[in-house]
Amino acid sequence: MKLWHGRFQHEVNKAADSFNSSLSFDKRLYRCDIEGSKAHCTMLGERGIIPKSDAELIVKTLDEVLADIESEKCVICDAEDIHSFVENELVSRIGATGKKLHTGRSRNDQVALDLRLYLRDAADDLISLLRAFALTLTDIAERNLDTVMPAFTHLQKAQPTTLAHHLAAYAEMLCRDISRFTEAKRRINVMPLGSGACTSTPYPIDRSRVAELLGFPAVTGNSMDAVSDRDFALDFLYACSVAMMHLSRFSEEIIIWSSDDYKYVELSDGYSTGSSIMPQKKNPDMNELIRGKTGRTYGDLMTLLTVMKGIPLAYDKDMQEDKECVFDAYDTLRACLVVFDGLMKEAVFDKKRLRECTEGGFTSATECADYLVGKGVPFRDAHAAVGGLVIYCIKSGKTLKTLSLEEYRRFGDFDEDIYAAIEPETAILRRKADGAPSPDAMKKEIADIRRRVSVN
Ligand code: ARG
Repeated sequence: MKLWHGRFQHEVNKAADSFNSSLSFDKRLYRCDIEGSKAHCTMLGERGIIPKSDAELIVKTLDEVLADIESEKCVICDAEDIHSFVENELVSRIGATGKKLHTGRSRNDQVALDLRLYLRDAADDLISLLRAFALTLTDIAERNLDTVMPAFTHLQKAQPTTLAHHLAAYAEMLCRDISRFTEAKRRINVMPLGSGACTSTPYPIDRSRVAELLGFPAVTGNSMDAVSDRDFALDFLYACSVAMMHLSRFSEEIIIWSSDDYKYVELSDGYSTGSSIMPQKKNPDMNELIRGKTGRTYGDLMTLLTVMKGIPLAYDKDMQEDKECVFDAYDTLRACLVVFDGLMKEAVFDKKRLRECTEGGFTSATECADYLVGKGVPFRDAHAAVGGLVIYCIKSGKTLKTLSLEEYRRFGDFDEDIYAAIEPETAILRRKADGAPSPDAMKKEIADIRRRVSVN
């Protein structure tokens, strides 16, 4: 039976009924809904709004409903939404007493509470997956403090760096994701119950008590805002979108790095797929999917932003559309983190190849210029001189390594020690500033990332 049947004389149209129902997707809120109802009911009993014995019976029965849903003895179906389902189930078990549960409450504040409870856990879950992934990357980085590879700008070889430095850059992004979810959680973690449909309730409720029972550090203010606010869900979706953007960028690199022309990394069979026609193929589908799924996560954020943009205060049914996008973004990011973490644990980097590829593309040109700066040449002049050297190399088919000292000297004040200066290892060792790739600086950064992922 509909919670609102009293005002109606005729059956609701079948198509309209199914159009209106959110049960197919909000059923995953069952645990949050029951936890919220138990806290509300406990408070009603404590304040004498309903008899204590009734409150106790309702709480006990809600526990039984929860246990029966978890053991699949009770199947969630045939209701308008999860709130109706739980209440119907309660009433079917204890009759009139169950009908007292909704005293001083509306589905509007109830659904806001359920979503906050759900997203609070979801944020915690994502934070722990982000943390695990960041730690996986720092572990790989730690084993590759001196694995030399080219750093790129514009996807053109730029300067020598290390694999540790490159991977730790992604770990930094994950640290920021953790702090974004922590921040989102701070705004999620506010208790809206007691706001009623829009103007609260005349019953002598105790909102702080409900917050305390549910572990919320604060209660919402204005009741109109509380039932129609979904900013906290948008914060969550934004955090998901940025995290997916990071995973997508990283995926793009893995896709490039595992290609035949790069061969920087070999993905394990467990995280690759083949082709139905081309027998030689081993494809990075996981990373392509992660890159692709980033689009749907942005879509989830745009969905809710758009749903919310024209809603007059307070609750409007448009807001039922808040759930699928939030669940989809959560499921998507969760799955991507699990798969990417496993994939990285099994990926094998080709250190020799990475070192070889650092030699090409004049990655030591900046070092060459800095060498002249060391001899007192202004940087801009040193830059121009080395530019000339590079043109000379390209024209004569040489590299900075194969040039003779005599050739070097045509372009500036070079000595025999230029050859040591342009070794990638030298360039890396000389970069000792915080955040730079020298192994000592990287050890410090890795320790710092490990500390930050644990405290955030
Ligand atoms: N299923 C609804 C939702 O998800 C619950 C709130 C219903 N409130 C109402 N006034 N019809 O938003």
